[in-house]
Amino acid sequence: MSNKTFFSLLFLFIVSLTSSQTTMKEINEIVKEWASPTKFPDHIVLSATEDPSRSIAINWRTEANNKVGFVELALAGPGPYFKKNSKKYKAVRTVVDSEIAYKEGFKASYFEVQIDQLIPNTIYAYRVGDFHFKSEWHHFKTANNLSTPISFLYVGDAQNYILELWSRVIRNAYKTAPDADFFIHAGDLVDEGHEEIDWNEWFAAGGFIHSEIPAIAVPGNHEYRYLDGSLFSQDEVLSVQWNAQFGFPKNGPKELEKTCYYIDYPDLKIIALNSNIKIKRQAKWLREVLTKNDKKWTIVTYHHPVFSASSMRNNTEVRSQWQPIFEEFNLDLALQGHDHTYARGAIYEKPVLVKNDVEGNNIVGPVYVVSVSGAKMYSLDKSGWDKFGATQDKTGERIQLFQHISIDGDRLIYRSFDATGALFDRFELHKKNGKNIYID
Ligand SMILES: [Fe+2]
Repeated sequence: MSNKTFFSLLFLFIVSLTSSQTTMKEINEIVKEWASPTKFPDHIVLSATEDPSRSIAINWRTEANNKVGFVELALAGPGPYFKKNSKKYKAVRTVVDSEIAYKEGFKASYFEVQIDQLIPNTIYAYRVGDFHFKSEWHHFKTANNLSTPISFLYVGDAQNYILELWSRVIRNAYKTAPDADFFIHAGDLVDEGHEEIDWNEWFAAGGFIHSEIPAIAVPGNHEYRYLDGSLFSQDEVLSVQWNAQFGFPKNGPKELEKTCYYIDYPDLKIIALNSNIKIKRQAKWLREVLTKNDKKWTIVTYHHPVFSASSMRNNTEVRSQWQPIFEEFNLDLALQGHDHTYARGAIYEKPVLVKNDVEGNNIVGPVYVVSVSGAKMYSLDKSGWDKFGATQDKTGERIQLFQHISIDGDRLIYRSFDATGALFDRFELHKKNGKNIYID
C-alpha cells in the first residue's frame, strides 16, 4: 500500500467516524421528535368511569394544530360491516403545553369523550381521530351490571426504564389476564410527571392494552413536579398532561377531580385516593363515601403506603388519617406503590403464634400490598411494619411484578406474578358473617 493510499483511507476512516457520531443535542432532538404528536391520533387510553357497565371515557392526543376530534362507536361485529352502524361523538379538546415545564416539551391537542347509556356486558368497537386521520378500530367490553365474577390487574410504579423494561411486565400482565375488567396503576406511572417523552414511553410500552382495558390510575409523587425547576417559588403541581389525558370520574372532593374518585361495579367499589395532597380532606370524603357504601367488596388504591416497605420512609399523615377509616369500615385490600420493593400483609385480630393456613385468620382492616412493576429497586425494610402491629406475610426484593385479582361471590383470589409470568405470591380472602377470613 502506497503512502498516498494509506493516508486517503485514514482520512476516509476519520471522516466516517466523525460523521457517525451523533451529538447529545442531536440525540435529544431525535428523542423529542419520537415523542412528538402528529396528525395521527396516539396515546389512546380508556378510563373507567363511575358506572363502567354503562359508560366509558376515551382520551387521545394529536399535534396541536388539530382542533377537531371525535370517537366513532359501534357494537362490535364478526365481520367488517359493523362500522356502518357507528355513531359519532364529538370530543372536548384541551391544548397542553409541556414546554412550560421542560425545554424538550411541546404543545399537543388532547381529546376526551365520555360515552354514556351503553349496554352492560357488551363488546363495542371504537376508533378515534378526525375526518382524515383515524386510529384502528379497538374493542372494549362494558362491565356487567349483575353480580358476576370480576377480575382486574394492578401494578405499582412503572416510572423508570418504562419502554426498555416495564413493557415486558404490562405485556405479560395482558397475556395472563386478557379479559381483565380494568387495570389499576398505583401512582408513579412515569418519572417526570410533565415530561412528554416519559408519557410516550408509557404509551409505547402498553400499546393497545391501554386502548382496550380501562385504566384506573392515581398520581404518585413523580406526577407532582415543579413547572420550571424553581424549587422555592412554587409548589409541585399535578402533571400537566394528567387531566387532559385521562377521563377518570370527577366524583371526588373539589380540586381533586380525576385524582380522587370512586368507581362502582355490582359487588365491588374501587376507591382511588391521591396521597400527595389534601390527605385530611380526603379522609372526610372517604368516610362519607364509605358510610353510604353497600358493596360486598371495597378496595382502595393510592400511592404512598400506610406502612412503608423500604427504609427511611414514613407516610405519617396517610397512616394517621386513613388507616383508622380503613379499619372502621373493614376494607378488603389496600393496593399501594412508591417503595420499589414488595410486601404483602395485614394486622391480625389476635397475635398469631401459629398461622392457621387451612381455615384462615381474622384480620383488622385490609390486606396491604406494596408492589413495583418498573425497574428501579430499593431494599426491603423487613421489620418496618412491626411497630404498627402489622405483619409482612410475603416479601420480595428486586423483582418486577404485576398482580391479578379475581372476585367470585364471597371469595377473592389474589395472585402476584413476576415479569416472566411465574407465580410469585398468592392469598385468598373469604367473606364469612361480614368479616374477612385471610388465607395466606
Ligand atoms: Fe413514589
